[in-house]
Amino acid sequence: MLYPQRTLTRSHFDLTGIWDLAREREGVDYTAGFTPEKQVAVPGSFNDLYVEEEFRTWMKGIWYSYRFSIPAFFKGERVVLRFGAVSYRAAVYLNGKLLGSHETGYTPFEFDVTDSIQLGVDNLVCVRVDTILSAETVPMGNLSNKAEPGQIGGQYPDTPFDFFPYGGLHRPVSVCTTGRTAWLDNVSVTTTVDGTTGVVGLTGKFNGRAAQAELHLIETGATSHVAVADGVFNAALSIAQVKLWDVYQPNLYNVRIRLLDAAGGVLDEYVQRFGVRTVEVTGNRLLLNGRPVYLQGFGRHEDFPIIGKGLNHSVNIRDHELLKWIGANSYRTTHYPYSEELIRLAEEQGILLVGEAPAVSINFDYVTPRTLETHLQALTELIERDRNSPAVIMWSVANEATSDREQARPYFKALAERARALDSTRPITMVTCKGTEDKVMEYFDVVSVNLYPGWYHLPGQVAGAQEDLRIILNAMHDKFKKPVFIAEFGADTIAGQHSLPAEQWSEEYQTDLLMGLIEVMRGCDFVIGEHIWNFADFRTAQNFYRVGGNRKGVFTRERQPKMIARFLKQKWAVGRYA
Ligand code: GCU
Repeated sequence: MLYPQRTLTRSHFDLTGIWDLAREREGVDYTAGFTPEKQVAVPGSFNDLYVEEEFRTWMKGIWYSYRFSIPAFFKGERVVLRFGAVSYRAAVYLNGKLLGSHETGYTPFEFDVTDSIQLGVDNLVCVRVDTILSAETVPMGNLSNKAEPGQIGGQYPDTPFDFFPYGGLHRPVSVCTTGRTAWLDNVSVTTTVDGTTGVVGLTGKFNGRAAQAELHLIETGATSHVAVADGVFNAALSIAQVKLWDVYQPNLYNVRIRLLDAAGGVLDEYVQRFGVRTVEVTGNRLLLNGRPVYLQGFGRHEDFPIIGKGLNHSVNIRDHELLKWIGANSYRTTHYPYSEELIRLAEEQGILLVGEAPAVSINFDYVTPRTLETHLQALTELIERDRNSPAVIMWSVANEATSDREQARPYFKALAERARALDSTRPITMVTCKGTEDKVMEYFDVVSVNLYPGWYHLPGQVAGAQEDLRIILNAMHDKFKKPVFIAEFGADTIAGQHSLPAEQWSEEYQTDLLMGLIEVMRGCDFVIGEHIWNFADFRTAQNFYRVGGNRKGVFTRERQPKMIARFLKQKWAVGRYA
């Protein structure tokens, strides 16, 4: 799906601001406006804004509305209403008419509103949102709080995962225009390198009629024209002395794509950004541009006080400044697709991403065929949204399923096949918590694993945890014969808590344990990365073992460093394969 742009034929404005909000009541029609209970910020989660507890944990239907006018110069334009993401489920009404709905909370969707909007007067958009999870949603929820050993249960709200189930219009709502009679719908870019020349394959899909497509590479000035047929065109660009995209070297290119009519008139124009780089798994190495890269970084969350999961550019800039300060080269978008704006920021700063589908804690005691359908839809939307980003180097189809069950095999085989069908250029993985008991690693290129020695087992025992880690890593590599990526390891740490000798929850213990575990990982030649859980403290549902949320952050939720941060900065100053 294309991103909103202002070009020769395209424009957009977003409906950022203060909307009306009301919780759904039986028998009331909200579709053409309603009496608001509250005002709410868009983009943002609603859960942390109010003093009433009911709003904090409201998962059922809740309505948003906003009035906006369309200027007369939109007359004759093709107009689209686009949502960056709505969690978890949305039904959208414009001027009282249902436009459509979307399920899963972390990928964009849009509606053609050319015939529905009214020029020069107020249009009213009403959105019904709910965060009702079930055995057939991704992520799952409301599983009567049962959970596998090692998974999460007994929480309020009832979620089997370890982050707060925020709801709302988390990312921008945009009114966009495209070409009128023909418009680009999708652009897919693949890159390889031949010597010092970048080789770029580009496929464009469009609606309407056009005579040809023109591609103009802005950085080199090269222009080419290609034939179009049945709404598709294919082009190949070569870039001599190409500047490769790499870690902290975000060399980017921009190709201006134009659909032309027979007289050469411009029907639609879109600028597709890309980076030239290669990524592959060979033996026990992850190669970026043909050189081994070792992933040092974090699992994260889109999470911040008050705004919840709402897009916030200041927080995103601060997070990337901290990532560079500490020497991280990567993070996993745990446990769902992050905003397009964050993916673009990682592209611009040279940070590697493991893009993850929104499927944490899939439990095969509850999975139905519908669960897999929704999971496949969410994975498809993730890959179609981000596959042109050079920052994304691997897809993670899920995190911590009960993948030690036989039923997991056909389920993850289907997901792996879908990922490879959509994108044959990147390695794929599934992050397991089942160690050598995992039954689905044969479908993936990298064995990604979450391990918490010294925290959930062998508490307080750093040396014991190191030995335990050494044993399990070697056992997993011996069994699966693939490179191993430690996707999570960590320790809850209260900033300001100190103890000598080091004990759990203290900054000293987080430092001793994690630095000790890193030494073990560095001793395993087959380990391709170490991602600490978590970049920052974050909110979770309520339970007896979370103190104001999950405290495994290397940084506090307000983005200030704990003791370990300086030790990591020193350790990560020199990459493993430098
Ligand atoms: C799991 C899970 C995380 C969770 C972490 C923890 O591995 O993937 O989402 O927050 O453990 O318990 O801190």
